Amino acid sequence: MKVRGKVAVITGAGGGGQGRAVARRLARDDASVIVSDISERGGRETVRLIEEQRGRAAFFRADVGVESEVRELLAFAERTLGGVDILINNAGPYFHGAPFAKWMETIQANLMGTVYGTLHGIEAMRRRGGGAIVNFGSTSAVGHGFKHSSSPPYDIAKAGIARLTTTLAWLGEKEKIRVNCIVPDWVDTDEVRGYVESLTPKQCEEEGVPLPLTPLDDIADAVMDLIGNEDLAGRVLVWWTGQKRGLIPVGDLGYARLE
Ligand SMILES: NC(=O)c1ccc[n+]([C@@H]2O[C@H](COP(=O)([O-])OP(=O)(O)OC[C@H]3O[C@@H](n4cnc5c(N)ncnc54)[C@H](O)[C@@H]3O)[C@@H](O)[C@H]2O)c1
Repeated sequence: MKVRGKVAVITGAGGGGQGRAVARRLARDDASVIVSDISERGGRETVRLIEEQRGRAAFFRADVGVESEVRELLAFAERTLGGVDILINNAGPYFHGAPFAKWMETIQANLMGTVYGTLHGIEAMRRRGGGAIVNFGSTSAVGHGFKHSSSPPYDIAKAGIARLTTTLAWLGEKEKIRVNCIVPDWVDTDEVRGYVESLTPKQCEEEGVPLPLTPLDDIADAVMDLIGNEDLAGRVLVWWTGQKRGLIPVGDLGYARLE
């Protein structure tokens, strides 16, 4: 799919991370972008940055964990711009603290937010005759016992998002709606960079922080590939920081080595 002239909706696009970077890239490539976030201030700043680069953008506040707000977000895009071609389910908050803190909020915003976006996005794209959805997972949900975040609900939600994506592969051929997922590792967002900079080199080593962090522009490139490549539907793109990005093979058993 060519992005030029298309309508794109992106959630969680008001922060100093991947959402804003992808929103700006979409606008730079001539899509009309609906920037959404729970933070009106952050979202409006993203719109300002896009307009400064002569792009087209509008803000709509939505909490992805609330289904009616996600429905309204997509309805706003259809009402004001005539339809939805691209949806980036980027919002996926990580709550620091005790392992079981914010259990429901984490699942609600990460997993259910992506489910709501995907279901209502599909409805809107059916009216348009096709489209592309990109979901955001995390390497902390890849594999077992190898590398987890300190938030079990976050990892559970992200595992669910990857699985949600692969279960919808058939939509690509049947309805020209391609749902794919990017699985980043340590990304150079304002928040992650701030955290890494607060660590000593020894702490970085102990935590296994892979440096340099994955640049935001590289993530935007990868998302644009997932949107643009018509061969990709129901695919999960895993990108360990410092390594080559790659797709999980179709038919992957996941647990190929059993004992
Ligand atoms: N940062 C990383 O290193 C990293 C690594 C792996 C995966 N991810 C995932 O990538 C995606 C983007 O993360 P990022 O760290 O680049 O941040 P980001 O800047 O893209 O997103 C943060 C924004 O999301 C908004 N937000 C939070 N909860 C929301 C909600 N319920 N509804 C709507 N907006 C909400 C915040 O207000 C903030 O502006 C997330 O899904 C995250 O889980 C991030």
